[in-house]
Amino acid sequence: MDFNLTEEQQMIQQAARDFAHAELLQGVIERDNEQKFPYDAVKKMGEMGFLGMMVDPKYGGAGLDSISYVLAMEEIAKIDASAAVVMSVNNSLVCAGIEKFASEEQKMKYLVPLASGEVIGAFALSEPEAGSDATSQSTTAEDKGDHYLLNGTKNWITNGGNATYYVVIAQTDPEKKHKGINAFIVERGWEGFQVGKKEDKLGIRGSDTHSLMFTDVKVPKENRIGEDGFGFAFAMAVLNGGRIGIASQALGIAAGAYELSLKYAKERRSFGTEIINHQAIAFKLADMHVNIMAARMLIYKAAAEKDEGKDISESGAMAKLYASQVAMDTTIEAVQIHGGYGYVKEYHVERMMRDAKITQIYEGTSEIQKIVISRAISKK
Ligand code: CAA
Ligand code: FAD
Repeated sequence: MDFNLTEEQQMIQQAARDFAHAELLQGVIERDNEQKFPYDAVKKMGEMGFLGMMVDPKYGGAGLDSISYVLAMEEIAKIDASAAVVMSVNNSLVCAGIEKFASEEQKMKYLVPLASGEVIGAFALSEPEAGSDATSQSTTAEDKGDHYLLNGTKNWITNGGNATYYVVIAQTDPEKKHKGINAFIVERGWEGFQVGKKEDKLGIRGSDTHSLMFTDVKVPKENRIGEDGFGFAFAMAVLNGGRIGIASQALGIAAGAYELSLKYAKERRSFGTEIINHQAIAFKLADMHVNIMAARMLIYKAAAEKDEGKDISESGAMAKLYASQVAMDTTIEAVQIHGGYGYVKEYHVERMMRDAKITQIYEGTSEIQKIVISRAISKK
């Protein structure tokens, strides 16, 4: 066990920190207010290799390990959680799934532009009536010989309005239940594919979340990922890694709020002293510090296990469950430490509190993480 980061990992961490301060800090409040997608920053993230961090360089990626990825995610999320989810979806859900499970032709055609950041991708599993209960897919993909006919609606799709390629999950054979589900790569612009309205959200307002509608969309057979019926297992495998990405986003939100709170507590004075000298405030900061470090350790462990090729369903769920709770607790206390100033936009922490909430909902709610963890421990 080695708790030290390698030189390369430290360089990635520093590069992400510098990038976040130079390219994301300015305008983060305005983007949140106006629900503006961080186009320019996302383009630059692609150029820096942040959108295909773990992908093999032969497919346009940066070829880094998962620890480097979670380090970069934390630094980006400290400043802008919206940019961080764009990054997480592209890396963990779209690129990772295609690299691990798609054919060579699919990789050359789709992964290369996605991993190099030339375009971004989206992952469409959730539906209006199927979020947690993801096996209850209503979107259908009817087998027509050389192609599938895709019909249905997906809900809440991150990057929905800006993606070029979409990984879409759909039911082909309802009799086989989740073993009759398939995953497809669908291109924006195909006939019958419509991007629906953008959601007006509590947090991560700089990211775009859309419904997607499919009406008799012809999907060539060569765009199915893996064998017939592999789609649900594909989605679960991809989400196991995705949950580490969202855990890192949550960690970044918490760490960002903690850093601002520590600085503020050393400067703000009341009753003749800096507020950090009031034990009530100092103890809040101590709790934040411990919880953030504990979340970080769970995330690093899950990321290291991913690189070792281990089953990360349990460790990924643990990291996400815990880090998202820490993000929520820390940001609520960060607003409290800032007093009235915490309640206004200029001081960032109110946005962080709003951003934190989604980490307990997407990529499996906290209740779903507990289902995954409890099923894993009951098998031991
Ligand atoms: N890893 C690998 N396989 C898994 C798995 C995991 N974490 N969880 C379930 N499975 C497998 C099971 O082993 C089972 O496989 P077999 O039939 O071959 O044995 C199969 O999936 C079905 O599992 P269950 O029988 O346990 O089915 P269930 O319906 O009782 O529970 C669930 C399934 C775990 C609740 C699953 O539906 C789930 O994870 N739901 C949450 C969905 C989710 O996370 N959505 C996120 C959408 S993407 C997103 O949100 C992106 C974003 O915001 C940015
Ligand atoms: P429901 O499943 O209806 O759950 C409602 C409540 O009931 C929750 O508290 C849940 O935990 C609880 N619950 C449900 N079942 C159980 C149970 N068995 N035991 C205990 N409690 C239970 N999806 C995608 O596919 N791709 C994306 O890119 C994407 N991005 C998103 C971005 C945003 C901003 C949001 C809000 C959502 C996004 N989602 C995406 C969807 C997200 O994954 C779902 O919202 C989430 O999985 C929960 O599903 P649901 O909203 O249908 O809630």
